[in-house]
Amino acid sequence: MSYLEATARLYAEAAEIPQVGLCCISSPPLQLPGLNIPEIMYQMNYGCGSTVHPAELINQPTVLYIGVGGGLEALQFAYFARRAGAVVAVDPVREMRQAATQNLQMAALENDWFTADFVDILDGDAFNLPMPDASVDVVAQNCLFNIFEPADLGRALAEAYRVLKPGGRLLMSDPITNQPIPDVLRQDDRLRAMCLSGALTYEEYTQFIVESGFGQVEIRSRRPYRCLDVHSYELTTPILLDSLDSVSFKVPIPADGACIFTGKTASYIGALELLDDQAGHVLQRGLPLAVCDKTAAKLKQLPDVFLSDSTWHYTGGGCC
Ligand SMILES: C[S@@+](CC[C@H](N)C(=O)[O-])C[C@H]1O[C@@H](n2cnc3c(N)ncnc32)[C@H](O)[C@@H]1O
Repeated sequence: MSYLEATARLYAEAAEIPQVGLCCISSPPLQLPGLNIPEIMYQMNYGCGSTVHPAELINQPTVLYIGVGGGLEALQFAYFARRAGAVVAVDPVREMRQAATQNLQMAALENDWFTADFVDILDGDAFNLPMPDASVDVVAQNCLFNIFEPADLGRALAEAYRVLKPGGRLLMSDPITNQPIPDVLRQDDRLRAMCLSGALTYEEYTQFIVESGFGQVEIRSRRPYRCLDVHSYELTTPILLDSLDSVSFKVPIPADGACIFTGKTASYIGALELLDDQAGHVLQRGLPLAVCDKTAAKLKQLPDVFLSDSTWHYTGGGCC
């Protein structure tokens, strides 16, 4: 059995008997005015963070959700899209599609604004999305891509890039690891399927996104997700996994490299009123300007520039 088959088997079981804590969430689900989340959706929340960022969901975007799980995030996306067929959710696991369908029918009973036809649940997988090229505004996946082995991760990201319109957004939440995970754990299909041993480092993860063509990446959140201890796993030192929420934009990659925003700022602290680096960045004395990590590294070479650390929370307004 391949690791993808082992993954499908695990989630078929998790569809039939909800497994609270299978993917231990690192933040409670986003609550929204007038949104009632059925209890079963909490129990089947198999994500590690959140992909639902309201600022990315204005103007009723079309959303393609990969790996529907219990349907919680599909419901949250439908909250913003509010029309028939606006959210398409794909999942190769029949049992999971059935569970999500039932859960969304339950949600329709508990939410006046929602009808189950807002979400189309289709048989499909991350490697063959049932959408034409450049046809959707938003692609989202929560806690699925980390399960994929590197070559498959590249295929899945390329497929997400294909179906996004120019300027479209890829919203993801995945565990990342703070140190490389030993091969013996990586090759354990069940641990991988449980989102515990496939995680890449932050640098590897963002490199995959950029190599797939995304010119801008914004980190929305990074927080501890799980700690693998030496007693439960074949480890000599514990390994901390973080949950990373990101938004990647299908925009051209600048000539000097992609812009990755992690919440850094640059402040001019010299004797003049402002500093113009002649590369598009004008820093007013004492006023922190949000900058991408590439620009932060360049500005660091200049005198009288103070750089703040990554906050791992960036929601726009900065300068590449
Ligand atoms: C960790 S769960 C996450 C579910 C959901 N995103 C959530 O946050 O609760 C992974 C989901 O991806 C589905 N899945 C497994 N293999 C897949 C594949 N190759 N392509 C798309 N979805 C897949 C599983 O059936 C399951 O619904």
